[in-house]
Amino acid sequence: LNNGLGATPQMGWNSWNAHGCNVTEQHIKDAADAIVNLQLKDKGYQYVNIDDCWQDYTRDAQGNLRSHPTRFPSGIKALADYVHARGLKLGIYATPGTATCANFWNGYPGKLGSLGHEQQDANKFAEWGVDYLKYDWCRANLDGVNRETAFKAMRDALQATSRPIFYSIHDEPQQPIPSWRPATANSWRTTSDIRDNWSSMISRAHLNQPLASWAGPGAWNDPDMLEVGNGGMTDAEYRTHFSLWAEMAAPLLMGNILSSASPATLQILGNADVIAVDQDPLGKQGTVVSSSSGLVVMSKVLANGDRAVTLTNETTTTQTISTTAAAVGIGGYPSYTVKDLWTGATSTNTSGTFSASVPSHDTVMYRITPVGSSGAVTIEAEASGNT
Ligand code: GLA
Repeated sequence: LNNGLGATPQMGWNSWNAHGCNVTEQHIKDAADAIVNLQLKDKGYQYVNIDDCWQDYTRDAQGNLRSHPTRFPSGIKALADYVHARGLKLGIYATPGTATCANFWNGYPGKLGSLGHEQQDANKFAEWGVDYLKYDWCRANLDGVNRETAFKAMRDALQATSRPIFYSIHDEPQQPIPSWRPATANSWRTTSDIRDNWSSMISRAHLNQPLASWAGPGAWNDPDMLEVGNGGMTDAEYRTHFSLWAEMAAPLLMGNILSSASPATLQILGNADVIAVDQDPLGKQGTVVSSSSGLVVMSKVLANGDRAVTLTNETTTTQTISTTAAAVGIGGYPSYTVKDLWTGATSTNTSGTFSASVPSHDTVMYRITPVGSSGAVTIEAEASGNT
């Protein structure tokens, strides 16, 4: 979506994976404070997003949405002020039908969806100082809503407020990707809801990996939010989760309780080299270059010509995974500087073959810089072949 936002994938935190429908304004404030105190803001995390269940169970007499009286007693405007005072941005959640997801599942009495209230709700969000909207399908089909029409209606309503509001949509994963998405939203979900376990996470990666051609500045594939630190996976599995999301230029929306995060969790979420791959200004989603028996190699071209390469071991035993400079798109150079983004070690490689022993469910991630000129080596090889 050409609204000046999302030149690189959005980074921040969202309440859903940690708090679900028990979310409170204190959770949001705690997350904002933690993002600042843990130096995650300096790493690029910017949006603090309230997911579903922030609303009171009914609209007011004028049809306005309002925040839940006991869980958000100070209101959204006050929360936006709090978040803005820390140099961060506030996100909120709405849906295109008559019900939100929680509305639907928990039987809240009001019609909290934005159908027929698009401009009214967008205006309210802008008035409160909201910077990001997650617009979530949630069975709007039961209201006879057309996806394209509904998501464009809210896009236009947000634009009419003239406040810059990042627009993240979930129109339920559909294959092939509807062609209207990139011009309609800054990001769109490509999978159903992630869960905090290996098979859920890796299957979402598999669904998102083939979709690279759709992604680019202002318009990103969203394989759902991060579960890093929520306890259902090992640190190796969380490293794979974070590596692959960065490799796929996916939104990096943390979903754990930050104030009690372990050092290992913070090391993963705060890895500046991996974040730089996600946030690379060229905005290319990485692609799978080889995949065999659970050993998966991806390559992502970066703005300076480097490649970010992931070697992921999806099997249950330690395996050696190999690839070549040619396979990742930079063949023919005399040497390469290789930085291991998880250990920080840098080495020089002259063979053009990159191998690593990768523990079960872990990922080794390299940033590979070609050194010298690829043309020179070709001439040299020809010359030596002639003698
Ligand atoms: C849907 C979305 C989730 C979350 C919940 C909230 O399931 O996909 O990300 O927003 O609704 O109810």
